[in-house]
Amino acid sequence: MEYKSLSEYTKQDYKNIPRHVAIIMDGNGRWANKQGKMRILGHKEGFKAVKKAIKFSIINNLKVLTLYAFSSENWNRPLLEIESLMELFSFSLDSEIKNFKKYNIQFKVIGDITYFNKKLQNSICNAEQKTVNNSGLILNIAANYGGRWDIIQSVKKIIKKVQKGILDANKITENTLSQYLSTSKFLPVDLVIRTGGEKRISNFLLWQIAYSELYFTDVLWPDFNQYIFQDAIKSFASRERRFGGFKKY
Ligand code: IPE
Ligand code: IPE
Ligand code: MG
Repeated sequence: MEYKSLSEYTKQDYKNIPRHVAIIMDGNGRWANKQGKMRILGHKEGFKAVKKAIKFSIINNLKVLTLYAFSSENWNRPLLEIESLMELFSFSLDSEIKNFKKYNIQFKVIGDITYFNKKLQNSICNAEQKTVNNSGLILNIAANYGGRWDIIQSVKKIIKKVQKGILDANKITENTLSQYLSTSKFLPVDLVIRTGGEKRISNFLLWQIAYSELYFTDVLWPDFNQYIFQDAIKSFASRERRFGGFKKY
């Protein structure tokens, strides 16, 4: 991963740049199919697009980039594809760790990683620990993640506090639930991008995107690049966020 060749990018200068962008990276399989290749080759090509998205985020000073890599429903896929995805995740992590240091990236994973093999779990914990003090881009990977899972795990933590008498059930607010979500340490999600043409959320961040802006593109994830990311940022910059309020004319 080389971030130095800035020349191919035009630095953005919009007033409303999102701070936290979350991406549903969809379309790897269809990309591969179109080329007559195996699905896993689409995922491999998708990893190149991940690097482009990270590079763009750093150059444009985004604070958090959350990438949906594996949903809690993706276990429904053939075992071979799942195993190949895990291997790709493991390999990519081990090969990119040096760049996290070099580019001051803080690496995080959200999702139930206890389902993964021990080696991958160790690589994840190791990468998180080694980058915890980095102050640049937060690269947050959603792996074995589900929005419903996230809400349930938050509720379970809250119930424990109530049972221990630390928390009064009558004092539970929206803020309490947010505090125990896996994203609690991050800035709010400003923009969700989905590639691959589907117009759905597929159990990604549910609670967190109540007021996020949504951007859908037909581009398949392996074809994603800085220009498409730029279009999404442009679209975001032109929107008026009202959060239920109103605009004075
Ligand atoms: C997204 O691409 C990547 C993952 C879900 C891991 P898909 O594999 O869903 O690609 P399509 O949607 O079948 O084209
Ligand atoms: C969403 O893509 C999950 C990820 C990108 C990781 P899917 O391909 O799993 O979503 P559906 O099945 O089309 O809703
Ligand atoms: Mg898909």
